[in-house]
Amino acid sequence: MKLTYLSHACFLIEGGRSRIIIDPFLKDNPSAPVGPEEVTVDYVLVTHGHPDHLGDAVAITNRCGAILVAPFELGVFCEGQGAQHVHTMHIGGSHAFRFGTLKMTPAFHGSGYPGEHGMIYTGNPCGYLIRVEDKTIYHAGDTGLMADMKLLGELNRIDLALLPIGDNYTMGEEDALHAARFLKAHTVVPMHFGTFPVLAPDAEAFVQKAEAEDIRVHPLGIGETLVL
Ligand code: NI
Ligand code: MN
Repeated sequence: MKLTYLSHACFLIEGGRSRIIIDPFLKDNPSAPVGPEEVTVDYVLVTHGHPDHLGDAVAITNRCGAILVAPFELGVFCEGQGAQHVHTMHIGGSHAFRFGTLKMTPAFHGSGYPGEHGMIYTGNPCGYLIRVEDKTIYHAGDTGLMADMKLLGELNRIDLALLPIGDNYTMGEEDALHAARFLKAHTVVPMHFGTFPVLAPDAEAFVQKAEAEDIRVHPLGIGETLVL
């Protein structure tokens, strides 16, 4: 199984005879190493309706003939935007796909799409537990620290936790360290930093603090791949 960081909260997972992209914010993201027309995927997972996560999800889904997975309200919104194959789920639910199993987890955040005539409701934000080839990857989405992470850590053997660390809109580094302890993940991959001036510029401080506490961190450079 391979995990590639495409900047911000966007990752590409290759495994289980499938290619899965999460939160594909590419076209309007100056940090993105590839454009939306350059990715070929079978699944597009979206955590919430904010433009830096929904990004190019609908365009990629339709061009690739992929399946877009999102919380119900956001999935219906995407259908309204023309998405052809949408699988809606909701928090706490699991579903078996070709690559393995997906479970939708809670996230403490907002989820709306800024439309021409005001904010469009897109339901609750979420995270995902992604089970591929006997590995469990947790993508937290955008979230603050939450006690539920303790439960996720108790009930799941998480191999990789993809955690926002950029502060302001999500957890900052201190709370991300608490999250890492709660989740008991084998390895933490920091995300959601550096893209906007208001976010932490890099993951260095987080990595240093984590290592000082024996939390295993594997920061990925943009475009870099981790093989599990
Ligand atoms: Ni957000
Ligand atoms: Mn965000």
